This record gives sequence, structure tokens and C-alpha cells, in this order.
Amino acid sequence: MKPMFKFAIAAALVVVGASPAWSVDKVAAKAAFDNNGCTSCHQVSGTSVGPSMREVAKRYKGKKIHAELVARIRDGSAGRWGDLPHPSLETLSPVDARLIADWILAGAR
Ligand code: HEC
Repeated sequence: MKPMFKFAIAAALVVVGASPAWSVDKVAAKAAFDNNGCTSCHQVSGTSVGPSMREVAKRYKGKKIHAELVARIRDGSAGRWGDLPHPSLETLSPVDARLIADWILAGAR
């Protein structure tokens, strides 16, 4: 294999293996989190009524759970963290739910 070709493959692997953080719009995600009432029950770090977004990030790190997490954020979720349920949030747009899930799964930073 030519050296140049090896280099191209290595570079491609670096890009593929990198954390997805580069594609996450953190500012928009954080705004969606702040503007949709999430903060009345969640903090980014630090426990509130529900788990912190960093705790959620830690639990699901590396797991293929994106679509499920989007659905749980919008439709509600219970029995995973404690006794209280996460309510169904129909006013939250699917776009915002996806943004927030992207952000959480990239570490909530
Ligand atoms: C009325 C309080 C309340 C509000 C408002 C709320 N949550 Fe929750 N949320 C909870 C509770 C309580 C849990 C833990 C549920 C459980 O034990 O499974 C939770 C769980 C979660 C989880 C973890 C789900 C899982 O599958 O492990 C995420 C992510 C989450 N909430 C995001 C959000 C976002 C984003 C918003 C705003 C759009 C929001 N929550 C609004 C109370 C709330």
C-alpha cells in the first residue's frame, strides 16, 4: 500500500472514531433545554427532581439509544432513575427533542 493511501485511511478513521460533538449544536440544544421547562426538574449537572443531564450522558455513553431517548424525552419515561416520572411533553418540538438528545449523548457539555 502506498504511504499516502495509508495516511488517508488513518485520517478517515480518526474522523469516524471522533466523538460526535463536532456536529452538535450545543447553543441551540442548551437554549431548547432552557426554554422548554426542563430546568424546573433538571439541571445540567447536579441532581434536581430528575437526573442531571450529565448523569444521563454518563449512563448512556457509547450506547445506541438516540432514537429511544428522543422518544422518551417527548413521550415520557418512568422507573429508570427514581420514583417520579418524566412527563410527556407534547409541546416540545421533535427538532428540539432531537437537538437535546444529541447534546446529552455528546456529554451534555
Ligand atoms: C415535571 C418534572 C420534569 C420535567 C418538566 C422534565 N423532566 Fe425529564 N425527567 C424527570 C424525572 C423525574 C425523570 C426520571 C424518570 C425515571 O426515573 O425514569 C426524568 C428523566 C429524564 C431523562 C432520562 C430519560 C432516560 O431514558 O433515562 C431525560 C433525558 C430527560 N428527563 C430530559 C428532559 C428534558 C430535555 C426536559 C425538557 C424538555 C425534561 N426532561 C423535562 C422530570 C422532568
